[in-house]
Amino acid sequence: MKSELFINGAWVAAQSGGMIDVIDPASEQVVHQIASAEAADIDAAVKAAKSAFDAGTWSGMTGAERAIVLRNIATGIEARTEELARLEVLDNGKPLPEARWDIEDAAACFHFYAGLSEELDAEGAQNITVSDDRFTTRVVKEPVGVVGAIIPWNFPLLMAAWKVAPALAAGCTMVLKPSEVTALTALELGDIAQKAGLPDGVLNIVTGFGPSAGQPLTEHPDIDKLAFTGSVTTGSRIMQSAAKDIKNLSLELGGKSPFVVFGDSDIEQAVEWIMFGIFWNQGEVCSATSRVLVEDTIYEKLVARLELEARKITIGDGMDEGVLLGPLVNKSQYDKVLGLIATGVEEGARLVCGGAHTDIGKGYFVAPTIFADVDENSVIWQEEIFGPVVCLKPFSSESEAVRLANDSEYGLAAAVMSKDDARCERVAHALRAGIVWINCSQPTFVEAPWGGYKKSGIGRELGKWGLNNYLETKQITRFDDNSPWGWYLKQAEDQTG
Ligand code: NAI
Ligand code: MG
Repeated sequence: MKSELFINGAWVAAQSGGMIDVIDPASEQVVHQIASAEAADIDAAVKAAKSAFDAGTWSGMTGAERAIVLRNIATGIEARTEELARLEVLDNGKPLPEARWDIEDAAACFHFYAGLSEELDAEGAQNITVSDDRFTTRVVKEPVGVVGAIIPWNFPLLMAAWKVAPALAAGCTMVLKPSEVTALTALELGDIAQKAGLPDGVLNIVTGFGPSAGQPLTEHPDIDKLAFTGSVTTGSRIMQSAAKDIKNLSLELGGKSPFVVFGDSDIEQAVEWIMFGIFWNQGEVCSATSRVLVEDTIYEKLVARLELEARKITIGDGMDEGVLLGPLVNKSQYDKVLGLIATGVEEGARLVCGGAHTDIGKGYFVAPTIFADVDENSVIWQEEIFGPVVCLKPFSSESEAVRLANDSEYGLAAAVMSKDDARCERVAHALRAGIVWINCSQPTFVEAPWGGYKKSGIGRELGKWGLNNYLETKQITRFDDNSPWGWYLKQAEDQTG
């Protein structure tokens, strides 16, 4: 397990010597320590990224040359899947099979952007026709420069891949700050990237707390672009930092994603997608299926089926075989989620099952929690809980379902289920969200754009949209005519003449 900062291709201690405890959320034990970077370390990391960018060791390569390194990173991750997955479980708590899935997806993300990096070469300059044919104009894409990427704790290596792969594919250099809660796999990524042939200084990885390490990164004048995933509160603060120097910015923030189930749906299928949508990754998912709207004709039946299945879920240490729900990531998330469950009870929602899971005696375990008959104006219906807590509410018409689904300050994802295709299409268009799933919930593909409406963020990750996040667009216009242009001289002549 690494503990130092990765700056300019070297592993270095934080200048202050400060360290952060790494806690296994299943045992509540301190299992390791990582460096706590502060402004001086951030400055060193940004300087390394800036000199690497200016030297052109990476930005000056062809896309095909960069693709070779990106594929090496992908295979480097693949070769260590089991080890990385176990680090993820230790750090985050998620069940091992889910962690393996994350690591495979992270590798796939590097493979995908290797391909897009090659396509950048093939695309080349795009000629466009302008309204004066004495001029020719072409448009070229260039890396945006030095990127500061700040990521959360719910999918540690995968969130790193979503930022690092497209930024590197574009030719950017960067400083990555993982969450202080789950930095172990991001640090290994530094080692993997170096062995893959990534030049020194191109990817720097600094661990540290939000205020002391994240904030100086967002304020650093040599950062050209900030890419953030996390809470709305921190996203808003980062936007304010970005405003000072007009930094390019993309934000992937929270959600309160609705799932609309019409009465003609197969209840078994609906229950399975809801279970996956809210209990996968302990519900610590930005797109989690946290608000379920069910047509009144099948509402009680669905609530009962969901309860039956939720009670069957095996809760335990993510390392143990057969576990489907691990502990929440840390004490503060555990307290936050239990606090919101208590709020839900106070607000008068029907607690069908769930709450703290104390059988194990240690660890931050919350049982699958179901609230029915939740009021649309209640805190638990409106606020992101980020835990295994689902809120259900009946509806009686399509227009009511759409109104309730859209009544949120968030707009990341939404889902609709019905056997009536036309209705699904209508509702899919009416839902104000960046991602809409029909007859399913949560499947995420590296090829497809990911991001939110409203307070859920700005910009899109993944696919070619994710690459565009890290590219500047430049027009190059030339005057191809041998005759004089004549405008300025003619004006001057008219004035004096
Ligand atoms: P957070 O948004 O504060 O943390 C995310 C990242 O931002 C971490 O790397 C953190 O160190 C960094 N950060 C914190 N303050 C910063 C600052 N002032 N400047 C720069 N970087 C800063 O989220 P946190 O505190 O870990 O979780 C709080 C809540 O946020 C959760 O309960 C959940 O509701 C939500 N959340 C949403 C996520 C999503 O994917 N949409 C991911 C993680 C949390
Ligand atoms: Mg931890």
